Amino acid sequence: MSKVLNVSIIGVGSRGAETYGRYFMERPDMFKITALCEIKPDRLAKYQKEFNVDPNQCFVYEKDFFKEKRADLVVISTLDQDHVRHALMAIELGYDILLEKPITCDEAELFELQKAAEAKQVKILVCHVLRYTVMMEILKELLESGSIGKLISIDHLENVAWWHQAHSFVRGNWRIKEETAPMILAKCCHDLDLLQWFADSNCESVSSYGDLYHFKKENAPEGATKRCLDCPHVDTCPYSAKVIYIDRWKRDGSPENCWPYNVLSDEKLTEEVLYSAIKEGPYGRCVFHCDNNVVDSQSVNILFKNGVTANLKMTGFNKYCGRYIHFFGTLGEIILDEHKGTISLLPYEKEDQVWKINELTSELRGHGGGDIRMMNYLHEMLTTNNEVLRTTLNGSIQSHLIAFASEKSRLEKGKLIKL
Ligand SMILES: NC(=O)c1ccc[n+]([C@@H]2O[C@H](COP(=O)([O-])OP(=O)(O)OC[C@H]3O[C@@H](n4cnc5c(N)ncnc54)[C@H](O)[C@@H]3O)[C@@H](O)[C@H]2O)c1
Repeated sequence: MSKVLNVSIIGVGSRGAETYGRYFMERPDMFKITALCEIKPDRLAKYQKEFNVDPNQCFVYEKDFFKEKRADLVVISTLDQDHVRHALMAIELGYDILLEKPITCDEAELFELQKAAEAKQVKILVCHVLRYTVMMEILKELLESGSIGKLISIDHLENVAWWHQAHSFVRGNWRIKEETAPMILAKCCHDLDLLQWFADSNCESVSSYGDLYHFKKENAPEGATKRCLDCPHVDTCPYSAKVIYIDRWKRDGSPENCWPYNVLSDEKLTEEVLYSAIKEGPYGRCVFHCDNNVVDSQSVNILFKNGVTANLKMTGFNKYCGRYIHFFGTLGEIILDEHKGTISLLPYEKEDQVWKINELTSELRGHGGGDIRMMNYLHEMLTTNNEVLRTTLNGSIQSHLIAFASEKSRLEKGKLIKL
């Protein structure tokens, strides 16, 4: 029988509770939640009950939570700007850490964290969950097997999708760059991590363009009001909170608990609960009258040290989410189309091969199955000491440096930045 790891979680929100917490509850043979820390008392009380945690081990204040080590592992799933503060306290106590991405919004903190982790010899897994998906694993295997010869370049499109852009980056937690991370870091540190993994090289230089093009008051339709439920465009504007949180929720089968709807309320989801959230709360604001300032579209050109080049485009202007990655090699091409759910291998002068992702794995929940597979790797690493992890702190630091450099270049109108 496998060893059960005790886990404590700080930041019991969408990721901490709904992704990791629920997964730990599904796997009592592997994990047991022994402590929680959450600044919202109602939320803390809800998950204390649902996860059956001793109330004496549930804390509103981080200083109480970090008074002593309460488990083998701590999950840090607070907001971006707090990760390193929490990680440094956890390292001091000797915790191994599952750290949500991005590691930090401040480049200097990357090295502070690295130094502290090395000094205390703790293990830190950064949640670049995509590396653990079956589809990315296949792409990496195809590249390594030489199926397209020598890799020359990569086009990588991150389709954020119109409603997700509005939800997270106009109305939600990641809308103001001074309070959180620039969008290229918040949304695309995964993609940058994948690109350096696929290119199999560190980055030499980047240049980037991008801006906030659409979600500002001069683009509001005529007569638009500050809140969607009062607006004459409530049923016709695709970004209307009613369209996104009521009409789409109904179309999705009115789930009682499902992202992104569960971000609006901690209560069991009903039409009434959602109406009340968009009537009063931040997710009912007109997307053209918010206080957002992060970009809605950005492109990054990357040169890797081994000569491979990559273009990353992150944009909110697409109907469907999902990555589209196109690899160009000396003997052929590979295309991942996440929305269509296919991987195609196109070798020159040979038969094309197409795989359907849902025929390769039955577990596609949570980032294409990456959330769950990452937790399995984490358990194996901490219980066997096998070095099975693909996303160590040092590797993740590289992708964060590319993101910081991209943002610098964007702010300097595409200036070439050497890393
Ligand atoms: N790995 C991924 O693919 C992925 C996906 C989405 C989000 N994220 C990251 O996960 C993190 C959490 O995002 P989320 O969507 O769960 O946000 P969330 O707002 O749902 O959850 C964050 C929780 O932390 C709590 N919190 C804030 N400050 C705290 C403090 N000092 N002490 C205790 N609790 C505190 C908040 O009240 C909230 O409940 C973010 O850094 C985000 O960028 C990662």
